[in-house]
Amino acid sequence: MQQLDLHSIAPGTESRSRIPGFSRSCALDQVRFFPEIRYMGSKRRLLPWIHGVLEGLDFETALDPFSGSGSVAYLMKAMGRRTVSSDFLNLSATLGKALIRNNCTYLDPLAVQRLLAKPAHALSFIQDHFTGIFYNPEDLRFLDHVSCNIVQPEHPHQRALAMGVLMRSCAKEHLNKPESSAIRLLLRLSLLGFPKALRASRGLVQMFPKRQPRGVFTISGDLAKYDDGRRDLQLSIEEHFFEQIDIFNQAVFSNDRQNKAECGDVFKIGTNGIDLICLGHL
Ligand SMILES: C[S@@+](CC[C@H](N)C(=O)[O-])C[C@H]1O[C@@H](n2cnc3c(N)ncnc32)[C@H](O)[C@@H]1O
Repeated sequence: MQQLDLHSIAPGTESRSRIPGFSRSCALDQVRFFPEIRYMGSKRRLLPWIHGVLEGLDFETALDPFSGSGSVAYLMKAMGRRTVSSDFLNLSATLGKALIRNNCTYLDPLAVQRLLAKPAHALSFIQDHFTGIFYNPEDLRFLDHVSCNIVQPEHPHQRALAMGVLMRSCAKEHLNKPESSAIRLLLRLSLLGFPKALRASRGLVQMFPKRQPRGVFTISGDLAKYDDGRRDLQLSIEEHFFEQIDIFNQAVFSNDRQNKAECGDVFKIGTNGIDLICLGHL
């Protein structure tokens, strides 16, 4: 088994793909469809270089144990390798299910219809806890609405796709302060069903009231004074949601392998049958 630490390799390795049908241009063409997920430490922009390094290695199966947004695992899948993505965050594992394990399931019109249907029992959890903190009332209503229905799509891959779409729609503003990223992450986790994350995010909001950078996750009250015309802020979460459905659907592809997505600590992952472990953790 090889262990590849991306941080210890200098850019510049050149070679050819070993799998017929998955040429350099094919894999890199596919990678262009990977959604721009604002994930801290994402290697998305480094993928062409990482691809150059991976091409020089002999491997059939690959594990990305710190998958994060899933960009590196997505590249390895695009290179035709049987790919396992894993991360201890539910958010990342969900993205892995949607884009790495999932080879051919889409959010089709019926699934979208189910997500938008009037729920039998309307919930107001998000409105109750986030009003006046994040987003406007219309966005919060939409989040509650879709969250009620997100268990509806029959297929687990559709659920993962819907969750990925919703999470990306929530991250509609780029923030660059560490506490803002932490708040954003906690909010996402709370949406994934971790109530403690919600309490922790509110605690963080209170800890950094004066140092908050502008951004929808950390601005409370009237957003008008922050609105400098950026498209992200112009669109409602509902508009982002529809845009992201297309983007995530386009990112789904098959490499004719049985890929896996797991949620777990790096020290507990089985490595049987894995040729290459790719450590893109920083
Ligand atoms: C910098 S991110 C990886 C970014 C990823 N390569 C990408 O392109 O998006 C590091 C990831 O490691 C995960 N992580 C950190 N410690 C971990 C552990 N002990 N077990 C599993 N995952 C862990 C974090 O949740 C985070 O998603």
